[in-house]
Amino acid sequence: MPQPSKTLQTRLDSVRTALLAGRLDEARRTVSRLMISEPPTLEIFLYGGAICLRQFDYPGALGYYEKAFRLQFGTSTKKPNNPACSRARLQHDIEQLNYLQAGNLLEPARAGTVSAYEALLDHALRHPETNGLFGLSEQLLKQVPDYNKAIHIYVPKEVHGPILNPELDFDRIEEEYFARQNECTFIDHLLMPDVLQELRRQCLESRFWFDTYKNGYVGVNLERGFSSKLVFRIASDLQEKFPRMIGRLPLTAAWALKYQQRLPGTGCHADSARTNINFWITPDEANLDPGGGGLVVYNLEPPREWRYQEYNGPEQQLQEFANQHPNTAVRVPYKCNRGVFFNSKYIHKTDAFDFRPGYANRRINVTFLFGDPLDPGAG
Ligand SMILES: [Fe+2]
Repeated sequence: MPQPSKTLQTRLDSVRTALLAGRLDEARRTVSRLMISEPPTLEIFLYGGAICLRQFDYPGALGYYEKAFRLQFGTSTKKPNNPACSRARLQHDIEQLNYLQAGNLLEPARAGTVSAYEALLDHALRHPETNGLFGLSEQLLKQVPDYNKAIHIYVPKEVHGPILNPELDFDRIEEEYFARQNECTFIDHLLMPDVLQELRRQCLESRFWFDTYKNGYVGVNLERGFSSKLVFRIASDLQEKFPRMIGRLPLTAAWALKYQQRLPGTGCHADSARTNINFWITPDEANLDPGGGGLVVYNLEPPREWRYQEYNGPEQQLQEFANQHPNTAVRVPYKCNRGVFFNSKYIHKTDAFDFRPGYANRRINVTFLFGDPLDPGAG
């Protein structure tokens, strides 16, 4: 009797098992077969991207993540089910749509979009249950049909010169990083100006800020629109120029967060990786507190018995733990194009910040994570 064909889930489970065991070629072969035999499926694309990252195959990862993005947020994708929303998210979208319209970057057919978002925000402000995160009902979604739809994406132009500033003394930076007790350092003028400019255009213009957080900030990650040739070139250059701090540690995540001027930032947490690289891309003129507005990094890991969900979860608990070790805190002030490198497991949070009003003045933070618990070299 013929064997029943494996279900998709079983095959995905086998991909996951192979990936976790580091059998990347085997995992990739299975994904390639699924790409042919199955209809477009988000999980297949996400596994494909994750495997490519671990194989340092950035064009491959970009291919999978572009498919994942189109499937989730393409203009012909069916309406999302009860997507997360907040007043701050609507405010962001209104500001961004106005910015695009002012630059003639929105199709004329979308001219009514801004007023639709304004009407929805007005509705939200009159209903107390929308104070915080709330799900957009089917009825409310009808008012803003392009919610969570990639109606405009800026693809960064190709940069022909260097990505990281060649005047930096990479060897010395690494030596100093490992010589100190605290695995945390920062570097100014990290990216070349044209790289910074293109990354900034990508973040200002692209309608991909669909991750909506309770503190009013919005986010995007590799799987949900942030992937681009430029983003992966930055990752690859960081790996090449910092062989000891990053080197062969794979890129395991990258994201950008855009903050709301009057609300607090990301609370205390630690990340599940080996090395974090964080940098800011909003010009310094927007920052009203030049001594602050950056990051607080504690030379302190959450207790080993806390699991990932715990130390990446309740901020309160981590903040209380950090408060018991006040001497471990390092404040890194905000500076455009300043890269902060630190041990991902260190507790960290956004410092208090005060930025000028206006869409282009919003604080934008970009993060790359290298190495993870799946990687035997990550330690
Ligand atoms: Fe973090």
